[in-house]
Amino acid sequence: MRMKNLYKKPITNLRCSSWSRYCSISLVILWTLLILGCILLLHLYSNNNTSLNIIHPPPLPSHFHQLQHVEKENFQIPPPNKKRSPQSKSITPLVDEFLDQDSSLRHVFFPHKTIDPMKTIGKGKNDSYNYYYPGKIWLDTDGNPIQAHGGCILYDENSSTYYWYGEYKDGPTYLHNNKGPARVDIIGVGCYSSKDLWTWKKEGIALAAEKTDKTHDLHKSNVLERPKVIYNEKTRKYVMWMHIDNANYAKATVGIAFSDTPTGPFKYLGSQRPHRYQSRDMTLFKDEDNVAYLIYSSEENNVMHIGPLTEDYLNVTSVMKRIFVGQRREAPAMFKHKGTYYMVTSGCTGWAPNEALVHSAETILGTWETIGNPCVAGNKMFRVSTFLAQSTFVLPLTRFPGLFIFMADRWNPSELRDSRYVWLPLIVDGHEDQAFQYGFDNKLWPRVSIYWHKKWKLPLGWNTF
Ligand SMILES: *[C@@H]1O[C@H](CO)[C@@H](O)[C@H](O)[C@H]1NC(C)=O
Ligand SMILES: *[C@@H]1O[C@H](CO)[C@@H](O)[C@H](O)[C@H]1NC(C)=O
Ligand SMILES: *[C@@H]1O[C@H](CO)[C@@H](O)[C@H](O)[C@H]1NC(C)=O
Repeated sequence: MRMKNLYKKPITNLRCSSWSRYCSISLVILWTLLILGCILLLHLYSNNNTSLNIIHPPPLPSHFHQLQHVEKENFQIPPPNKKRSPQSKSITPLVDEFLDQDSSLRHVFFPHKTIDPMKTIGKGKNDSYNYYYPGKIWLDTDGNPIQAHGGCILYDENSSTYYWYGEYKDGPTYLHNNKGPARVDIIGVGCYSSKDLWTWKKEGIALAAEKTDKTHDLHKSNVLERPKVIYNEKTRKYVMWMHIDNANYAKATVGIAFSDTPTGPFKYLGSQRPHRYQSRDMTLFKDEDNVAYLIYSSEENNVMHIGPLTEDYLNVTSVMKRIFVGQRREAPAMFKHKGTYYMVTSGCTGWAPNEALVHSAETILGTWETIGNPCVAGNKMFRVSTFLAQSTFVLPLTRFPGLFIFMADRWNPSELRDSRYVWLPLIVDGHEDQAFQYGFDNKLWPRVSIYWHKKWKLPLGWNTF
């Protein structure tokens, strides 16, 4: 923008009439100076860029190549079912089919097959060990389906253990006031632990619903979504933030709780409208300097807000930036790679899947730019519906910089407890991608890709420190 004005101003201001010769000479000089200036600026800028971004990263280890394979997903969409609701707001025939409980593809979207890590334990690291099967039923070490929806993972250095927190939804699904949205009464925040990110032991309910007091935020008739937990080194507390709402989503607040141990029970402190704004889908991000941030969908989901927390992580500060203004994004999942910040978000279509977008920024409060759809799959409809899932968290694998686990939820609105987990490799590599919207910078960003796989596993050695 600024560059445009620089060009425009001298031309409109110089009036070349009687002394036109003098004018054209000065114009030539002016243009020459401007062009030289631009070249200098561009040069400085691209040097700067090279040090900030990975323009030419080291080649990824060869075992990444398997993860970057573009996998086909061949299924035929049957002809439209006449009974289908005409006011369906979905984006593709695939999503219509997905939302149809009687679809002949139901077994593809919600396969009955269970993945039971206990069945392969002790059998050595053979080929059936440690594979993720996105969309299949994933059992914990007791043999029950894992209940940690809209979740996050905390790596606890004290115990060298991963903790997976999420909505424990193992109750009946019903429609609020018989018309919607589909809901399950609050049970609480489920907590699971693992050393290998594949075998998960149920630790119990880290923050439980309130059964009797109807005025309590956590009363079972309310809404608790997207719990996120981070550790505060200073206070040595585990701090949980979550979306707290009433059943018609009009309250729009964020709740805060803390605990001395990762498994809880967490002590609930209360809820607030951060910076006096509505807050619905949200996440937390703890930066390398230990400053933590709250990111939340606000202003009727039209704008995302981001702002730092206080040092104890128990409140927001007065600093807040509005980002993605008017873009209507939710389900934020944030990560950082080589000094650049990234966020995956979804659109706002209730429980129905839609297209993911990835956004980037060089400083955490912005300017944020939207890069595009990170999903890579052989099937286009799968690509524009985030593999029929919605982002919730991105987990870095520190042993392999550039490799992350993208965690998403495949919501099942007719039986929310049977919603499935879609975990896939997310890779930031060197093929640059342009921003969607062109600001002054119009910069190239490292490409962020999420690769679809029916089954996949982490590269060997991911957990050796
Ligand atoms: C690998 O483990 C599976 C499941 O336990 C077993 O059925 C299979 O025989 C094993 N394969 C080899 C080569 O050991
Ligand atoms: C660290 O873990 C040990 C047990 O492994 C526990 O006794 C201790 O309280 C933990 N410390 C923190 C700060 O969580
Ligand atoms: C959080 O901070 C705001 C001001 O920034 C203050 O009004 C509010 O009382 C604080 N909440 C708590 C629970 O400390």
